[in-house]
Amino acid sequence: MSPVGLSCLFISVLVCHWVPAGSYSNGKVTKVCGSMEPQHGSSGQASPSPYRLETNSSTFRPGDQIQVILSGTSHFKGFLLQARGASNQGLVSTVGTFTLTDQKKTQLLTCNKHQGSAVSHTSDAQQTEVIVIWHAPADAPTQVQFFVSVVSQYNVFWVKLPGPIIYQHGVTPHPPQTDTTPPPVQPTTSPSILPGPFTSEGCGQSKSCLLDPPDCDPEDPQCFFLSMTTEGPDKMSVTFELSGPAEGYVSFALSRDTWMGDDDVYMCVTDGIRVSVSAAFVSGRSHPEDQSQSGLASVSWRLVDGVIQCRFSRLVKLSNQEPARYDLDQAYFLFLAHGRAQYGRVWKHTQQPFISSHTKHITGAPEVLGGSRGPILMKLHGSLMLLAWMLTGSVGTFIASFYKPDWPKQTLLGQKVWFQVHRGLMMLTVTLTIVAFCLPFFYRKGWSKHAGVHPYLGCCVLTLSLIQPIMALIRPSPDSLRRYIFNWGHWGVGTVTEVLAVAAMFLGMRQSSLLLPQPWATHVLIGYVVWLASFRFLLLMHKHFYIPKSLDTDDQQAIFSQSEHGRCVNVKVSICKSLILAALALGNSALVGVLLSAVAHI
Ligand SMILES: *[C@@H]1O[C@H](CO)[C@@H](O)[C@H](O)[C@H]1NC(C)=O
Repeated sequence: MSPVGLSCLFISVLVCHWVPAGSYSNGKVTKVCGSMEPQHGSSGQASPSPYRLETNSSTFRPGDQIQVILSGTSHFKGFLLQARGASNQGLVSTVGTFTLTDQKKTQLLTCNKHQGSAVSHTSDAQQTEVIVIWHAPADAPTQVQFFVSVVSQYNVFWVKLPGPIIYQHGVTPHPPQTDTTPPPVQPTTSPSILPGPFTSEGCGQSKSCLLDPPDCDPEDPQCFFLSMTTEGPDKMSVTFELSGPAEGYVSFALSRDTWMGDDDVYMCVTDGIRVSVSAAFVSGRSHPEDQSQSGLASVSWRLVDGVIQCRFSRLVKLSNQEPARYDLDQAYFLFLAHGRAQYGRVWKHTQQPFISSHTKHITGAPEVLGGSRGPILMKLHGSLMLLAWMLTGSVGTFIASFYKPDWPKQTLLGQKVWFQVHRGLMMLTVTLTIVAFCLPFFYRKGWSKHAGVHPYLGCCVLTLSLIQPIMALIRPSPDSLRRYIFNWGHWGVGTVTEVLAVAAMFLGMRQSSLLLPQPWATHVLIGYVVWLASFRFLLLMHKHFYIPKSLDTDDQQAIFSQSEHGRCVNVKVSICKSLILAALALGNSALVGVLLSAVAHI
């Protein structure tokens, strides 16, 4: 809940304790036995409620006990439950009496001077399920209907939701008579429970499937699965099966493009106990709108070990009344998303949706669709940055830090070896950085607003990377008195850039558009930092013990080449140091390789 929402709730709680006519968090609501309206100053919700009333039987005999269950896909703080007699004259007053199964959370009320004829809450503690027993009286009418008002939050409540009608044995059921309150709940058949996990059998033959990771088994608790089967004599309806591990919801969307917005979304939302299936429309990068269950038939679900499963069917074409549902005889990109949910409201997915690699004619020939959670531009961005900062930049800096005295005799294209290699690698690093830096701007068509600190770090890295070659171009000659300023400046800026780049990589692999498997990827990067640090330590030790400290690096080669002894040491040392450099480069390449393959598999 947002801070604003929280403070609103807080204020409404304050108000409800001040205003005398305010809420009855103790559930003693006999004043409103007739209207069943909580006097909360606002009117009840007209939208479909997330609550359901069920009985364990559709018929009864006088004296029978009927179990009545109030449940919801979202929590509720208060309720008022009654049974009313339905006769040909319409609804009469409360019928029968209740007994409780939970004396702490529920209480009996006396409505119409009839003790135990209604049930309510005892406190505003949140609940998701209430079970009570209803006793049919000897003089029961032929039909009895249950009604419930449910308070989700102080100003969010549903009044007099009509529940099931039960009929007396041997009495022909009459069409139910309802009173003037408009029934907010559509009389849909209640969902059933699925017998077991879905199967990928028939994918590509009798149904189209989308699987993430590719070729996973829907029985595997890590597998996200969507299947579509065209059914009916004239291929008039499509059955969807959706499953995957999620805290709150799994969903899929039909989209005309690979961007979120203007999408027809189908969601299976759970409160941890039940699953409710609904459809909605997403108009932008925002919350689904017009969430409703209309148009969805044969709904069933299952919730086992954190895996949400649901199945439903939908007509290929829905009548115009349906809010913005897409026809299924056209081609769409398919999105698979999942995330948290609260009070039946879904939260933004934490991971980029899995998007099919091409559009799919929903009623078209069965096929197995591929897809990815990483847009290609972002994958390129990540790969180039990893290459630049874990390989070329890292090795290039390392050479400048430790290898200036090595290979004193050889030159490469007229320059010292270390200098050529350093300059080459660093120019490559800067080039890779510039290219990689631009890609997210193409992808987002502007600044990445939801990416936190990462893009700012990226800007710093780019700026500093550009300063380095400029600084190098205008450096004073090696024998200049001011040369030390350049040496320190170049070293300092380089170090800061590398640190920022590593920080940016840590944050980058957590971005939703390029989410690498966590915490594995972070561990690989920590491994890289430790690996690099240990090499630096090793060579610092080496420098300390093998090289006379009083000498400046630029003079060392001269000393070494002059003294026989020094040269001998230098040769051995050079081989040893070359091996160290090779090991570093190999190790870095391996770590980059591992991360690149992870990027490729997103
Ligand atoms: C419904 O539940 C009540 C109370 O648990 C029980 O006595 C009754 O037999 C049940 N009826 C059916 C049809 O299961």
